[in-house]
Amino acid sequence: MSSEMPTESPEVPTENTVPAEVPDVEGKVKSNDGQVERQEAGSGKAQCLEPMSKRQRKKLLKQKQWEEQKDLRRQKRKEKRQKRKLERQSKLDSNNEGNDRKRMRKEVVPSTLRLIVDCSFDDLMVLKDVKKLHKQIQRCYAENRKAFHPVQFYLTSHGGQLKNNMNENDKGWVNWKDIQIKTEHYSELIKKEDLVYLTSDSPDVLGELDEKKAYVIGGLVDHNHHKGITYKKAVELGIGHAQLPLGNFVKMNSRKVLAVNHVFEIILAYLEKRDWKEAFFSVLPQRKGAVPLGETNDASRHVLSEKEDGDNDLDSN
Ligand SMILES: C[S@@+](CC[C@H](N)C(=O)[O-])C[C@H]1O[C@@H](n2cnc3c(N)ncnc32)[C@H](O)[C@@H]1O
Repeated sequence: MSSEMPTESPEVPTENTVPAEVPDVEGKVKSNDGQVERQEAGSGKAQCLEPMSKRQRKKLLKQKQWEEQKDLRRQKRKEKRQKRKLERQSKLDSNNEGNDRKRMRKEVVPSTLRLIVDCSFDDLMVLKDVKKLHKQIQRCYAENRKAFHPVQFYLTSHGGQLKNNMNENDKGWVNWKDIQIKTEHYSELIKKEDLVYLTSDSPDVLGELDEKKAYVIGGLVDHNHHKGITYKKAVELGIGHAQLPLGNFVKMNSRKVLAVNHVFEIILAYLEKRDWKEAFFSVLPQRKGAVPLGETNDASRHVLSEKEDGDNDLDSN
C-alpha cells in the first residue's frame, strides 16, 4: 500500500458528518468555535433546534383537530338537546292520549233500562246449580260495572241457598255498588205495565229495547228440567213477555235457551251497538255453535253437546 493513499481515520471527521453544534451529555452545547453555551430547557430556541418527536407531532395534530371540530361538537350537542326535548314532548302527548282514553272510559252513560234477575226459583235448584247461578250473577255484576251503558241492575227475591252461598264464598257482595239487592218479589217493586219477562218460550219476539221498561231474567240453572216455567209465571201474573230475536239472526246448534249471564250481556251489548246480530255474536260462546243465518257452520262438528256444555258454570242453563 502506498503512503500517499488517503486513509480514513475515526479521529479525523469528514465534512458534513459533524453538526455545527453537538449537545454533550450534560445538556451543554459545544459550538464549533469551541465556546460552551447553556441550553435552556423548553426555550423557543431549543424547540426550534430539537426535531419534534412522533408523540409530540401526534399530540399537536390531535389538538389541532380538537380545535377544528369544536363547532361540529357544539352542533351535535344542540341536536341531542333538541332530540331529547322532542322525545319528552311526545311522551307527554302520549300520556295525554292515555288520559283522554281514561276519560272516554269514564264517560259512561247509564241506561234507564231496568234489568232484573228474578231469584224466586231458589228451592228448585240443587246446591251445585245454585253455585253456578251465583257465578253467573257475579259475571253480570262485573260486566255491568264495565259497560258503556250500564243498566239499573236488580236482584229480587234474594235469599235462601243463593244468599247463604254468597255469604260463604263472596262476603264482599254486601258492598256491591250500583245494584239493588232486594228480598221482595219484582212484582212488589215495579209497576206491572213496566214489566217484560224475557223467556225463550214466549211467542213474542223482542224488537227494540224500551229503556222505560223493566226486563226480567229467570235466575235459574235447571238444564231444562223446568221447561216453560218462566213463561207460565209471566202469563199468570199478566205481564209482558218476549224471547230474544235469536232466530232472526243466528242458527244455533242447541236450543235457544241461554244462561242468565249471556242474556244479561246480550242486553248490555245491544244497548251499546244497537244491533242484535252484533250483540249476539259478541257474547255467545263459539261452542253454542252460533252462526249467522245463511252460513254453514263447519265448526258444528266440534261443538259440544248441551250436556257437556253444562259443565261450564257461565254457559250452564
Ligand atoms: C237457563 S234459562 C232458564 C230456563 C227455564 N227453564 C225457563 O223456563 O226460563 C235462564 C233465563 O234466561 C232467560 N233466557 C234464556 N234464553 C232466552 C231467550 N232465548 N230469550 C229470552 N230469554 C231467555 C230467561 O229469562 C230464562 O229464565
